[in-house]
Amino acid sequence: MLLMVILGIETSCDETAAAVVEKENGKLNILSDIVSSQVKLHAEWGGVVPNLAAREHLRNIRPVLDQAVRESGLPLEKIDALAVTQGPGLIPALLVGTSTAKALSYAWRKPLIGIHHIEGHIYANFLNGNDAIAFPALALVVSGGHTQIILMRDHLRYEIVGGTRDDAAGEAFDKVARILGLGYPGGPIVSERADRFANGTPIGERNSQRFTRPMAKSGDFDFSFSGLKTAVLYAVKEKPETVGNEALTDELCYEFQEAVIDSLLGKTLPAAERHGARTVLLAGGVSANPELRRRLEAAVRERLPETAFRSPEIRHAGDNAAMIAAAACYHWERSEPDAFSENWKRIDASADLKL
Ligand code: KG4
Ligand code: ZN
Repeated sequence: MLLMVILGIETSCDETAAAVVEKENGKLNILSDIVSSQVKLHAEWGGVVPNLAAREHLRNIRPVLDQAVRESGLPLEKIDALAVTQGPGLIPALLVGTSTAKALSYAWRKPLIGIHHIEGHIYANFLNGNDAIAFPALALVVSGGHTQIILMRDHLRYEIVGGTRDDAAGEAFDKVARILGLGYPGGPIVSERADRFANGTPIGERNSQRFTRPMAKSGDFDFSFSGLKTAVLYAVKEKPETVGNEALTDELCYEFQEAVIDSLLGKTLPAAERHGARTVLLAGGVSANPELRRRLEAAVRERLPETAFRSPEIRHAGDNAAMIAAAACYHWERSEPDAFSENWKRIDASADLKL
């Protein structure tokens, strides 16, 4: 199809988002991209409170949608289809998005495409750029709820080749931030502190190997981050003065982040090699981590010189609706014309939707 325009909606966690994306001759263009974050609201509680999130989504969804459609500059008739995150995520939060999308799909008589949240994160890699990608591709997905290595032999075909056995990478960042009294969400703060330590400390004075790399010898592509988080907790118990001490906190953040990044790289590169990946993709909220981006890109270049590397723009690393619309474009162009027209009756929010 030469041109398609999709309105995407995302409400799986603590961002209310809507975006209009068009796909023309293999290129995705973002026409509007609105994200209303609830981070400040949940920070007070140290994490996302599902019912509070749902209430905020309900409050925000109309204005966010209005703004997305208005800023796209297109009349409604030009929008071909709607797309919504169906799961995984928090049920009360997801329901706001799916119910709104189903109602609009019925009222506007437009098809509705249900999207897996992780699929959206993967397709964030193609926003505002050429979608020419060499398969097989291997995606390292690192978010607050997921840490997975996913093999794609083609568009929309996923095989999970590895995953976390306990905490997700983002969750580990958030928990370490909580242990250190750094607030929520922890990822951006811990990574900033870690980078500050690295930038101010000569290599010889850094103890990058302080924490054991979890699952390093497990012989599979799985991860575990819960033990690492506990190791940080013990380190703080041993040296309680770390909390509130800027220098000691920065150092511990660095040592923790090094262990996480080594662990991620230690599985992703062998998995890419084993599956003959021609592209490595980074996806999910933790892909905003500058050190992870830098190290994974350098490792791919060095160890897999024939393999391309992609990561999303920083503004599309976290949750947004442009990525949901982007993934929907691929479903839409690969399906029968009426495949989605009755979905206003069928789509259900699902907390643990499978890829
Ligand atoms: O994808 P996302 O926005 O939401 C989920 O689908 O879970 O990911 C959010 C996660 C949070 O755990 C947050 O702390 C983490 O991504 N995160 C980071 C960074 N920015 C966000 N983790 C490490 N370093 C960062 N710079
Ligand atoms: Zn996400």
